[in-house]
Amino acid sequence: MTSTTRPATPGSEPDATDPPRRGEATSAPRGALRRPSAMTRNLDVSGLVDAEGGLLDRAVFTDDQLYRQELRRVFAPSWLFLAHTDQFHKPGDFFTTYMGEDPVIVTMDKNRKLRVYLNSCRHRGARVCRADMGATRNFTCTYHGWAYDLEGKLVSVPNQEGYPADFSPGQWGLVEVPHVDSYRGLVFGTWNPEPVSLRESLGDMAWYMDAMLDHDDEGTVVVGGVHKWVLAGNWKLAAEQFATDWYHVNMSHASALMVMSPSGKKPKDEIVHRTGRQYVDPNGHGAGFPVHPKNRFDARTVHDWADYPAMRERLGEARVEGPLTNGHATVFPNFSYLPVNGSVRIWHPKGPDKMEVWAWTIVDKSMPEEVREAQRLYNLRTFGPSGIFEQDDGENWSEVQSIAHGFITNGVALNYQMGMGSEREDGRHPGQTSELYSDAAGRSFYARWRDLMNTPAWHEADQK
Ligand code: FES
Ligand SMILES: [Fe+2]
Repeated sequence: MTSTTRPATPGSEPDATDPPRRGEATSAPRGALRRPSAMTRNLDVSGLVDAEGGLLDRAVFTDDQLYRQELRRVFAPSWLFLAHTDQFHKPGDFFTTYMGEDPVIVTMDKNRKLRVYLNSCRHRGARVCRADMGATRNFTCTYHGWAYDLEGKLVSVPNQEGYPADFSPGQWGLVEVPHVDSYRGLVFGTWNPEPVSLRESLGDMAWYMDAMLDHDDEGTVVVGGVHKWVLAGNWKLAAEQFATDWYHVNMSHASALMVMSPSGKKPKDEIVHRTGRQYVDPNGHGAGFPVHPKNRFDARTVHDWADYPAMRERLGEARVEGPLTNGHATVFPNFSYLPVNGSVRIWHPKGPDKMEVWAWTIVDKSMPEEVREAQRLYNLRTFGPSGIFEQDDGENWSEVQSIAHGFITNGVALNYQMGMGSEREDGRHPGQTSELYSDAAGRSFYARWRDLMNTPAWHEADQK
């Protein structure tokens, strides 16, 4: 458990780190989880990902069987982003989201602990909460009326006398996600009954994340709601791009950069620079950031308000001159963020050919209202659903996906060879880094994906 989570005092952010209480299941989610059936077949993906040679088979974006395997072996065992702690201030506050394709409810229980439940009634399986977010005292299924309290217990069953005498509501509570934790306001959960800790899974990535999350003691809060939009494209196209791909910026975003450049003429020299580093995490995370004294990519109001000397003191020169001024990043598998825009987003998988993007705008809690508003508008203009950069990226992913099912096309390998062998300790940033223009973090992303895809998850323990 991290030392960075704050205690749960009334009005403060909730505590997602409490150990399970006596009597609670710790080894497995409450409710029976299905064992893999004889129908379940796992594919060895070693031949699809040549991380060492920098080659990728397009089947990883298109194959339905691989997609099902991803849900079992990549999403189910991984720490997945759920929400921001600022979305929960009092018992009963809830937010509904997905872990892979599994619908879940994130809520604060009566003891101010964040709990996460599978959003599926134990009776016939309808969602027990169909709202996006809100506050409630219990979750009542609108199909037949079974109701569950904030602790996930089944507390009301219409016509209960019609069930056998040994029917026990205590055995029919909501299935609970066994591990929930937060890192500087970002809440993650995993179905894995025995995961490495969230902090351990982040490793050196946390240093880069702090460039967005740790500007001062007050941390971050959410402004506005959650933008949601659907894109034709495999979720990995977005996740890998945010981990590794600064290479596309000057080409794909040329028109947007032209609009933003002070002279309106020379985007390459005025807004983004080729000098920079790319963090390559062994667990598949990645972050890229230009390093240049003139590098600026933020709303002027925010820039003027920021106390850079204080941040230098707190975070060090390397972070303030690098990831704090610009950049992009992915926490494996499907959580990404843009540190300067304050955009955090998750790429929900919706089949091999479709993703649903959910994006939050976060700001420093210490920001005055007008600065928050400037940041919110700046993020909307650049990386909101109709933002001038977001449009370019979505277009690229859909373009790649739209032809990838062609029989011949699908068999032509993709190139991830830029920066081969360039990873090293650079003496300024933790972990291994590569050049800013490099596929190194992409290769690491797919190596991690390959390893998980080829490793039986906990729910396959008794499978031969
Ligand atoms: S499906 Fe929920 S009460 Fe029947
Ligand atoms: Fe982009």
